[in-house]
Parts: sequence; structure tokens; C-alpha cells
Amino acid sequence: MTQIEAASQPKVHSVRDDPAQKVPVAVLGATGSVGQRFVQLLEDHPWFRLHEVVASERSAGKTYGEAASWRLGTSLPTAAAPLTVKNLGEELESTVLFSALDSSVAGEAEDAYADRGCAVISNSRNHRLDADVPLLVPEINSDHLAALEVQRKRRGGRGYIVTNPNCSVIGIAMAIAPLERQHGVELLHVTTMQAISGAGYAGVASYAILDNVIPNISGEEEKIESEPLRILGRWGQSRFHDAEMKISAQTNRVPVVDGHMVCLSVGFRNREDLRRHFSIERLIEDVEEAIEAFVGEPQALRLPSAPVRPVHLLREQDRPQPRLDRDRENGMSVSVGRIRPCPILDIRMVALVHNTVRGAAGAALLNAELLKARDLLP
Ligand SMILES: NC(=O)c1ccc[n+]([C@@H]2O[C@H](COP(=O)([O-])OP(=O)(O)OC[C@H]3O[C@@H](n4cnc5c(N)ncnc54)[C@H](OP(=O)(O)O)[C@@H]3O)[C@@H](O)[C@H]2O)c1
Repeated sequence: MTQIEAASQPKVHSVRDDPAQKVPVAVLGATGSVGQRFVQLLEDHPWFRLHEVVASERSAGKTYGEAASWRLGTSLPTAAAPLTVKNLGEELESTVLFSALDSSVAGEAEDAYADRGCAVISNSRNHRLDADVPLLVPEINSDHLAALEVQRKRRGGRGYIVTNPNCSVIGIAMAIAPLERQHGVELLHVTTMQAISGAGYAGVASYAILDNVIPNISGEEEKIESEPLRILGRWGQSRFHDAEMKISAQTNRVPVVDGHMVCLSVGFRNREDLRRHFSIERLIEDVEEAIEAFVGEPQALRLPSAPVRPVHLLREQDRPQPRLDRDRENGMSVSVGRIRPCPILDIRMVALVHNTVRGAAGAALLNAELLKARDLLP
């Protein structure tokens, strides 16, 4: 490595594997589906160390091992099992908090902790569209972190909230970001097939979902029609400016455990002009090239959870599939395939995202890594 290359490495890499230097963190809502995923992903994290776990009064006072009925395919981390679960609202020692709280309580609790000076890195929907809260996908819009200056001023301290998008939205945003950068996207039609883990453990009764598809997920279509506009928009003059794009969404719950599939039809901006100058075959080649070349700040900084390729292009006619493709790059990559002409808009394709990893806990962890690399943690 040359001196210049060495100097361009983020200095935070030096704390790797030194437990004394790891940042102590708390997980709010640690007993739930997303909370357990946080605890799992934090087990051997090079920069962060699980220090506190927080849940409802139903769990408070018990050890994490007793309170969480562990449902992931790896063993309950030994360091997490003896931690005593704290009640939401209690004073915490950690100043970096990952939130996987139920949305009925997340709004107020996250605000209160941020007002007390904590960095709250949240999965919940409550603050995603607030005027000064980044809805962060580090590969796409790391410049939105400029909003934190405004938010910190409003709160009068070093605390803030940063959110990650809805679990389907992150797959949609990652799949279309390369196209948006290249030709601009004006129209998007989206149909989702969403896994049952997206509703939390108690979310969908097995009797309702086995041998069935449920053609409605409450509140989901509104999120899909609004959040990508914020993510793909820009921050300027102390406010967010939404991308000029119209989205129509239909959502379905399907009997898959993990992995949300999304069928997308895309209409480019200035489509009449584009189609006059480029054949559809040429446009598809452009799109494939843009997807394969797509990287962002997490890749440049080589953040610990960053996938090498945020979007994988699959050329087989029957891929992506949840069971075969959701775990690519530890579940942090989105897979895209079946790119072909659309007889109504311009092109269509299928995307897949691991909903509890890249769609939830993994996304928040990557956000926290970027905040640390930018020296923005309190
Ligand atoms: N599942 C996904 O794929 C996904 C993806 C993206 C975002 N999200 C969002 O992430 C959040 C968590 O989702 P989830 O699926 O993990 O839900 P979940 O399994 O139902 O877990 C909810 C968590 O919130 C805690 N909680 C509930 N009521 C509380 C209260 N009154 N006070 C304090 N804590 C309370 C629960 O603690 P107890 O165990 O003590 O009740 C539990 O730890 C939600 O806001 C959801 O919308 C989920």
C-alpha cells in the first residue's frame, strides 16, 4: 500500500478487534425480531460492543436470555444472555442507541433519548420523514447527513435521530438508484411480495398465511410511495428536496420467511427523447452497466458491514429467489434480475432484499458505521 493509500484509509479501522476501544451501544426493542438481529450482528462487530438491552416492562428486570425467546439460526450470543433488560425510558450509560422499538412507542422514546444527547439510529417509521432527520442509505445519500447540523441545533446538543427506510423501500431504492443517477426515473410501478418476518414474530398468524397470499399490508403502500422520493432527493438550503418521481405501489404478504421480492416497471425521465436516441436494447445495456458499477461511500471507506457490491445483477432467467439469493454478502446486498423491456413504461425488473438484515438491523448498523467514520457519534 502506498503512503497516500494508507493515509486515505479511515482512521477508525485501528480500533478493530480491540474490545476496550469498541463503542458501547444499547439496543432498544432488543427482544423483538429486528432487535434480535441487532444482537446477532453486534456479536463480533469490530467497532461496537453490546452494552445494554432495552424493551417493555414485560421484559424489564429479566436477563436477556430469559426475556428474548431467541429465534435466529445462530446461538444466542454469550455476552448478551446475562445482560439485564432495562425498561424503556430508563437512564442509559450508552450514547449510541439502535432502535428496533414497536412504532407505538418509538416516536416519543427516540425523541427523548436524542434530546438527552444520544445518537438514535432507528428502524422505526415514526421519524423517517421529519424535516431534519436523514433517511439514510449510505450508498445513495450520505450527503443527507448535513441535516444533522440543523437537527442538533434544534435539540440544543449533540444528540440526533438517523433513520433507515422501510424494509421494501431499501430494496427499491438500491435497485433504482443506479438508473436514477444515469437517466433519471420519473415513473415507477411496484408490486411487492413480502416475507412474514417483516411483520414481527407475532405479526401474521400461520393459519392466515400458509397456502395463501394476503393482498394488503397496512401502511406499506404509502411508505413505498413516499420514502424513495426523500432518499433519492437532495439536501440543500437547510431542507430536503424530494426527487421528482411518481410511484404506484401494491403490496402482498407471501408465505416466505425472509426476503422481500419486488417487481418494478420503470419509466425514465425525458423518456420520449431517450427512446428517440437509444434502442431499448441499448438502454437495457446501460442499466446493466450502471447496476454493476454502482458503489457509494461505504465501499470507498470499506466500512465493516458494507457489501463489496451493493447491488448484484443476476442474469439467470429465474433469479433472484428469496431462498437462494437473500444471504448474498451476509444479507447486505440487493439482488436484481430479469431486466427486460416494459410494453407500458420503459423497462421492468425484479429485486430482492433481505428484510431483517439490509432492510432493518444491517442497514442501521451500516448507518452507524458511517456516522463513526465521519466522526459524528456523540
Ligand atoms: N421486521 C422487519 O423486517 C422490519 C423491517 C424494518 C423495520 N421494522 C420496524 O422495526 C421495529 C421493530 O419491528 P419488529 O418486527 O422487531 O417488532 P417486534 O418483533 O414486535 O418487536 C418489538 C420490540 O418493541 C418492544 N416494545 C413493544 N412495546 C413496547 C413498549 N410499550 N415499551 C417498550 N418496548 C416495547 C418489544 O419488547 P417486549 O418483547 O418487551 O414486548 C420488542 O422488543 C418496528 O417499528 C418495525 O416497523 C421492522
